[in-house]
Amino acid sequence: MASCLCRYRRRILFFCSPCILLLPVYIYVSVALYYIMKHGAPYGARVVHSVLPTHFTSCGLKHSRDLAPHPAKSFWKSELDSGALWNIIQHKTDRQYNPILRPHLAENPSSLYYKTEMSRRPGDRCSPNYEINNTMPDYAKLPIQMKNFVTTMHCRDHLLIIDPLDVCDAQAKKGAPSLLMAIKTQTANFENREAIRETWGRSGNIITLGGQQRLVRRVFLLGKSEDLHIEEKLHLESEKYGDIIQWDFMDTFFNLTLKDVLFWDWFSRRCPHAHFIFKGDDDVFVRTPAVLDYLLAEEADGNSSNGSRQTNKMETFVVGDVISNAAPIRSNGTKYYIPESFYKGLYPSYPGGGGMLYSGSLAHKLLEVSQRVHLFPIDDVYLGMCLQRLGVYPISHPAFLTFDFPKDEPKEPCANHTILLVHKRSPAEMFQLWNETSTPSPECRYVKLRPD
Ligand SMILES: *[C@@H]1O[C@H](CO)[C@@H](O)[C@H](O)[C@H]1NC(C)=O
Ligand SMILES: *[C@@H]1O[C@H](CO)[C@@H](O)[C@H](O)[C@H]1NC(C)=O
Ligand SMILES: *[C@@H]1O[C@H](CO)[C@@H](O)[C@H](O)[C@H]1NC(C)=O
Ligand SMILES: *[C@@H]1O[C@H](CO)[C@@H](O)[C@H](O)[C@H]1NC(C)=O
Ligand SMILES: *[C@@H]1O[C@H](CO)[C@@H](O)[C@H](O)[C@H]1NC(C)=O
Ligand SMILES: *[C@@H]1O[C@H](CO)[C@@H](O)[C@H](O)[C@H]1NC(C)=O
Ligand SMILES: *[C@@H]1O[C@H](CO)[C@@H](O)[C@H](O)[C@H]1NC(C)=O
Repeated sequence: MASCLCRYRRRILFFCSPCILLLPVYIYVSVALYYIMKHGAPYGARVVHSVLPTHFTSCGLKHSRDLAPHPAKSFWKSELDSGALWNIIQHKTDRQYNPILRPHLAENPSSLYYKTEMSRRPGDRCSPNYEINNTMPDYAKLPIQMKNFVTTMHCRDHLLIIDPLDVCDAQAKKGAPSLLMAIKTQTANFENREAIRETWGRSGNIITLGGQQRLVRRVFLLGKSEDLHIEEKLHLESEKYGDIIQWDFMDTFFNLTLKDVLFWDWFSRRCPHAHFIFKGDDDVFVRTPAVLDYLLAEEADGNSSNGSRQTNKMETFVVGDVISNAAPIRSNGTKYYIPESFYKGLYPSYPGGGGMLYSGSLAHKLLEVSQRVHLFPIDDVYLGMCLQRLGVYPISHPAFLTFDFPKDEPKEPCANHTILLVHKRSPAEMFQLWNETSTPSPECRYVKLRPD
């Protein structure tokens, strides 16, 4: 037995001594790995909801001749636009929903953020946040409308006061309107609404210029005014026409964005199958029969292309007078004034708010994405911000004249027959234009839409 052990002692020593020598290395590696997994892993399963730092910087590699060139510093913007309230809070939200940093949130639209910070249950009083002055150093110097905006910009679930039920049949996909017209108006503008109802905003089956019949529906979007007398008149008007949507917020210029986000919500519940939406002001003229022909052509074009492109085209369809590379207006005293302490940078491309068209399927996407875009005081810019986050580019069409005909343009006899929309027109002009364009003279009958 002993001789047997002796015979193998050399071999045992030969094989085991390296193992014994390597033991400290194994222990070191195990401890190090354990430590890294416990403290170093950035987003392990248990730390999903940790707060991300405000910005990242890449550390970069050491310069080396043997390796390909590489950025020594971070090649993306690492600094926030400091001191601009909207940029700061939106930067945080965009990061929360970044599909690379937070895949589980980007996939799941029933958003953490939406539930905790941006909204409350409908009906809850949303109280102004006066603490905001601590974040905005020049708060005391802001014009009153900007003060009102920043203190209430976290409130968006305002109650519906008037909710028309008979505009669409929400269940019926087949009889859904081709076009739903959503017109921003204020309580006092009775005359505009009357003119629109009798001219370009007629509800019912409309004959297009091409001789087809299409169903058109109309709603007016309103907030509240302080004048109780005209509020009473509005209720009578609503009973008579059933085309008034009113929410419980003050109808001011800086609150117009609420009409977008609340309308998208209304649309998704009450008229979800409408093919297209017109969204615009109550002081424009729209050549509705021509708009319907234009939309039919676009839709047919989308239908004729095969497979995925077909759905894609209509899901991202938005057209208007597109404004690109616009900078915020910095002069105090104009109604568009946005101070640098609120927003820095250019605005994304957006279709001018006077009037635009988009598809119903885009409206559903806008409702979803708007839940992670903080309210902005200018409604069409806000739409641009939502489109940007959807990766959608608005189409520019020269027949949308949101700044009227160019002043230096020679007067063409058929000019009024070449447009889809023109701003700004009084109620009397709407009647006149409707008259003129509905029964075109023979020479104007077949003129084409305005080219660029
Ligand atoms: C902000 O307003 C509150 C009162 O609403 C006041 O107590 C506080 O000092 C103000 N903060 C700043 C930085 O002005
Ligand atoms: C802007 O105008 C308001 C009055 O409308 C004034 O009180 C305020 O000081 C002005 N702010 C700046 C930054 O000039
Ligand atoms: C918007 O409406 C809300 C609710 O009525 C109001 O508190 C807020 O001051 C309004 N905002 C502006 C900018 O007028
Ligand atoms: C396009 O397709 C949709 C659904 O497939 C249909 O409802 C619509 O009428 C079609 N439009 C045209 C212009 O062919
Ligand atoms: C669509 O696909 C069919 C075959 O599936 C093909 O015959 C047709 O040419 C395609 N149309 C277009 C516009 O690509
Ligand atoms: C076009 O419409 C305007 C009213 O908006 C009217 O004043 C003008 O005369 C019309 N143009 C023509 C050539 O009829
Ligand atoms: C509209 O046209 C008819 C004739 O076609 C005319 O009698 C009427 O006065 C016109 N109305 C307006 C508002 O121009």
